[in-house]
Amino acid sequence: MKILSLFSGAGGLDLGLIQAGNTVIWANDIDKNAVETYKNNIGNHIVLDDIKNIDIATLPRAEVVVGGFPCQGFSQANRFRMLEDERNHLYRFFYEVIKRKQPDFFIAENVKGILSLGKGAAIEQIMYDFGKAGYNTELHLVNMADYGVPETRKRVIIIGQNKSLGNRKLFHFPPPTHEKDGKHGLKKWVSIRKAIDHFPDPDLPNAVLNHEYSKYKVQYRDYTAHRQTDPDKPSPTILARGNGGGGVCAIPHYNGKRRLTVRESATVQTFPEDFEFHGVMGSCYRQVGNAVPVLFAYMLGKELIRIERNKEYESSIFV
Ligand SMILES: C[S@@+](CC[C@H](N)C(=O)[O-])C[C@H]1O[C@@H](n2cnc3c(N)ncnc32)[C@H](O)[C@@H]1O
Repeated sequence: MKILSLFSGAGGLDLGLIQAGNTVIWANDIDKNAVETYKNNIGNHIVLDDIKNIDIATLPRAEVVVGGFPCQGFSQANRFRMLEDERNHLYRFFYEVIKRKQPDFFIAENVKGILSLGKGAAIEQIMYDFGKAGYNTELHLVNMADYGVPETRKRVIIIGQNKSLGNRKLFHFPPPTHEKDGKHGLKKWVSIRKAIDHFPDPDLPNAVLNHEYSKYKVQYRDYTAHRQTDPDKPSPTILARGNGGGGVCAIPHYNGKRRLTVRESATVQTFPEDFEFHGVMGSCYRQVGNAVPVLFAYMLGKELIRIERNKEYESSIFV
């Protein structure tokens, strides 16, 4: 399917959708390093600009719109005014694109925290807005480890299907392929050791791309990014921020001696090993931590392809 991608970052989501056979025809991000990474690995269809400068009327029509919108503005007192709140201009842009372009489907990604924003009132309002824009929606809280990603990253995925396609659900959300203990018919979660143990010591000469690591000291203080990493479990969430000094906090390596390199973090996020990140190390970590795992995006992309093939089949049987 033809896809329009908003807030595309380095392109984790887009890459998976493309690997599944779809085409991203237009993408955008405000971050110059992320755009450079995207251009060098995925394609030149990405536009570097603040989304607020983009005129929706000039965007090409696509069957699918994808993107993750940060939601900064929400107040209990003003709970039915998500769209009017100035701080929510990114959400508003996503909403406007959906409303005006009327793609067949949209896929929106967000952090788990969006579910508890305003004790659930924010997400309720968001789902209501999308309904008003012409979509039947469904919401999934996903643990990426359940899809074979070596990381217990939890994200909210909203799928929208245009009401003009009827009430029969066409997009079947991919079922999990993995489970924690692997005792109920699915494969066992993939451990971080299995994913990254093959990498050479980054302190020795090597030819691995982006194999450099933050010297931020490993100290176990029992909070996010300061916990011992269990080699036999999936990695904790690869972060896009958070060392307290404005930098990014990489997960400690399970050897306890250092933090994960950019490459190891990217492999946990299921980026291919020849996908090179551009920019200074902090920016590379951020691009990796911001991404939708490529493997999970691929599964969403496969479902779009399945729908497309069925459409071809359905139209051919009436000829
Ligand atoms: C969560 S990341 C998206 C990651 C992407 N989906 C992926 O899989 O790699 C959100 C992106 O929104 C971008 N962004 C934030 N504000 C923006 C704005 N005003 N205009 C355009 N992009 C913006 C950020 O630079 C960041 O790359």
